[in-house]
Amino acid sequence: MKRAMAILAVLYCGFLAVTVSGQTSGDGPRYVNGNNLVRPTNYREWIFLGSSIGMTYTPPRAQNAAPNFANVFVNPSSYRAFMQTGQWPDQTIFVLEPRRSSTESSLVKDGRFQSDMTGLEAEVKDARFADGWAWFNFGLAASLRESVAAIDQHAPQGTGQESCLSCHTAHGAVEKSFVQFYPTLLEVAKQKGTVKASY
Ligand code: HEC
Repeated sequence: MKRAMAILAVLYCGFLAVTVSGQTSGDGPRYVNGNNLVRPTNYREWIFLGSSIGMTYTPPRAQNAAPNFANVFVNPSSYRAFMQTGQWPDQTIFVLEPRRSSTESSLVKDGRFQSDMTGLEAEVKDARFADGWAWFNFGLAASLRESVAAIDQHAPQGTGQESCLSCHTAHGAVEKSFVQFYPTLLEVAKQKGTVKASY
């Protein structure tokens, strides 16, 4: 009886592991309902690529508005592959976590530190998408969605859909990623010769 229970427990754990991970290749992107990306909840256990502060891509933010930090993470197996090759393998997922910056502390005389999260975005390199890459916005921090469809990169102009694809393609130093802002990766890309000629 004890043995039967033990076997059942092992089977059950195996079943849980399979259903929870939803895929076999480990730490890459997970999808539901076709191509809707599931919001990664453990990205803070991934590899931290870097953090920028106050970078804006559209007209400068209002004067005196506090600049935001942008923390970037990538899944560990893709990071290891990049270290070997200077390129991102299929099934790479990046998370961009924007946070407010603050100066409000009795100790702080100068400088800024990170405070509340404001939203969450992601980017994947995955052959299931026509462009080979796709971009996602999980919404505002207070009401992050569990899963979202990719942002339509080919929507007609003026529909309010930002073109993540065109900026990332035109200005990213390696493939469609902004490796020029992740200094330790940029060194690797230079050594492997994978920095785009256009950069
Ligand atoms: C005008 C240029 C531009 C546009 C448009 C743009 N990005 Fe980016 N993106 C950047 C830059 C620059 C970085 C470097 C990191 C930073 O901003 O701190 C970046 C980094 C990222 C990263 C981290 C991985 C990487 O590629 O380096 C993600 C994820 C991301 N952006 C998501 C998005 C999403 C989603 C959209 C569309 C809603 C978008 N971006 C639109 C310029 C852009």
